[in-house]
Formats: sequence, C-alpha cells, structure tokens
Amino acid sequence: MSKQIERRTFLHGSAAAAAAWASPRLFAIGGRVARKLDGPGCIGSANAHLPKPGHPKQQSYSAVETATSRLRAGDRPVDSAVVGVTLLEDDPYETGVGLGGLPNEEGVVELDASVMDGTEHRAGAVAALRNIQNPAAVALAVMRKTNHLLLVGEGALRFARDLGYPEVSLLTPESRRVWLEWRAARGATDNWIGEPEGGSTSSAVKSPPLGTTHISCWDGKGHVGGATTTSGLAWKVPGRVGDSPVIGAGLFADDGAGSAGSTGRGESNILVAGAHTIVEQMRIGKSPEEACLEALRRVTDQCERRLRDASGRPTFDLAYYALNKDGEYGSAMIYGRYHNAAFAVCDGKGPRHESGAVLFSESK
Ligand code: GLY
Repeated sequence: MSKQIERRTFLHGSAAAAAAWASPRLFAIGGRVARKLDGPGCIGSANAHLPKPGHPKQQSYSAVETATSRLRAGDRPVDSAVVGVTLLEDDPYETGVGLGGLPNEEGVVELDASVMDGTEHRAGAVAALRNIQNPAAVALAVMRKTNHLLLVGEGALRFARDLGYPEVSLLTPESRRVWLEWRAARGATDNWIGEPEGGSTSSAVKSPPLGTTHISCWDGKGHVGGATTTSGLAWKVPGRVGDSPVIGAGLFADDGAGSAGSTGRGESNILVAGAHTIVEQMRIGKSPEEACLEALRRVTDQCERRLRDASGRPTFDLAYYALNKDGEYGSAMIYGRYHNAAFAVCDGKGPRHESGAVLFSESK
C-alpha cells in the first residue's frame, strides 16, 4: 500500500484492548472533520481502484474513476455505480466478483448484487445467480423493468437470459484450481458448524476470501445511488446469500441522507442492517465515518461467542463505506485486513486510495 495512505486507528492502547470483550464501545471515538468530495464523485471498496502497475496478471483500471466520468457525463448515480462495478465483474483475476469469483462448495459460482437509486427510492437485486457475468446490471434491470425488487436463483437466471445476457462459465482455471485445493483439504475449513478438524494448506483455503465490490456515487447536486456486487463467501453452502443483495444491509441509498455499502462477513452485517443503520445515523447528523463506526460497534457488541477470539474480538472483518447528501464521505473497518484499511475515492482530484478508520488494531 502506498505511503500516501495514512493509517489511523481508534485504539486507546493495550489496556483498553484487554477490555475488548467486556466493552468494545471503549475503542472508537468519532468527531473528526469529514472529508468532502471535490465535485461529482464516488467512494468504494479498495478494489474499485486497482492501478496495479507492473502486475502481469491483473488488469489496470479504476472503477471509481469510470463511475465518476459517467457522473460528469450526466448519468444518474446508480447507473454510474453499475458501470464502475462492471469493470471488476469482467476481470477474471478479481476473485470476489463476477467472472473468476470463487465458487461455492460444489464448485459453482453464485453471484449476488444490488443497486439502489436514492432519488427515486427504488432498488433491484439478484441473489445466487449462476452463469451470468454481470449481476449488478441484471439487478438494475430488476429495478427498472419489473415490479419486484429481488430475484433469486433459477428465476434470476431466466430473467437475465430473457434480457439477452449471455450464459458463460464463471469458473476460471485459477478459481477451479483454488476450489480443488480447498475441497481436498476441507474439514474444519468449510461452512458447516461442528465438522471435524481437517488439514488445510493455502490462505484461500484456511480463510475463505471475500472480495465484494461496493461503489456509492454523488452527483454534486444532492443525488446519490450505489451498487454492491459479489461472488460471496468462497466455498459457501449452495444457495447461501450474503448481505450484498439485501437492501438495507449491503447497500442503502436515500437522497434525504446519503448512501452506504459494505464488504466483509455478510451474515454479521445483515444482523445490524448495516447500510440502513449508517444512512439513518447520517440523517441524524453523524459524519459518514462516525456513522460507519456506529454500525461496526453494533456488529462487535452483538457478535456471537463462537465468532470471537480469545480477547473477545470478532474473528472476521467487515468494512463500511458511506457518503452523505452533501458529498462528505468516510469509511470504517473492524480491522482493515483485506486492503490495509484503504478505500477508493474519485472526484475532481482524481482516483486514489484513502485510509479508513479502524476499530481494532491487529496487534494485541
Ligand atoms: N459481503 C459479501 C458476502 O458476505 O457475501
């Protein structure tokens, strides 16, 4: 991660860390001046800005830059966000979304996505969608072309097919290789509670990756919208649906307050209706970063015991991204594990990574 990312944490020190189980609320303080977009722009998960210079395998692109150029051209925030996340869905080397997303325990890629227009207060979503590379665009079609909000599984596939989306194999040679490695080592590393201990090798096997992409857009005139897309938790039980397609959890947008989205352990986010909670916190005056931290505190307060480590902290990570109707923005994560606590931003100053607030430091 570049040095321009200034990592900040809200830890008060090791004495406070020892009290994490008893009182996670002690760890976060808010009140910092909110950052503001320089004209129309957007924020998103760190993978929405991937310069990746010199990396032979991965494409070089910036989804937040693409989304911002669409905003400048006059597209609605929700449409701009979908154009942005589509770049990642089309990238076979991005293992958390679209083509090349890691599959479920049977080796089948199942995609989840949602979109929301904060002006019209309309949303669309698809869940457990197979064989279609661009679930965010299909979610947009659910919003625009149907009387419904969420289509799942076979019905979502038939809908996409009827609209002309081509059916493709989403499993790449690399994602198949990693899945086969996991399958050979499965045991304690699967998603069934109470399975016997089993061996495991790579980090992708030991800690199933989550590579969701979220983008929230602001048009400079108070209109907001967003999109969240994912292949979900790797090696999931077939049919498992995470937070990304759940409006109010993985995404929520309302011009009256702002837009928010999430990446990370979806089950924990659904339980606090994370994106809706953040938007409502911004509505009552919290900065985007404070609102994200409040939702994270609810996650850590409510976290069930089996998902806590010996010091009482969650064993998983979760990240929130938010911008308000005035273009102020922020992000917060439990640990910031996946991208060194960075999130993506683009506005008149161009695309970049910035540092999010971190609830807990990894060093104990
Ligand atoms: N946040 C993505 C998922 O849990 O599926």
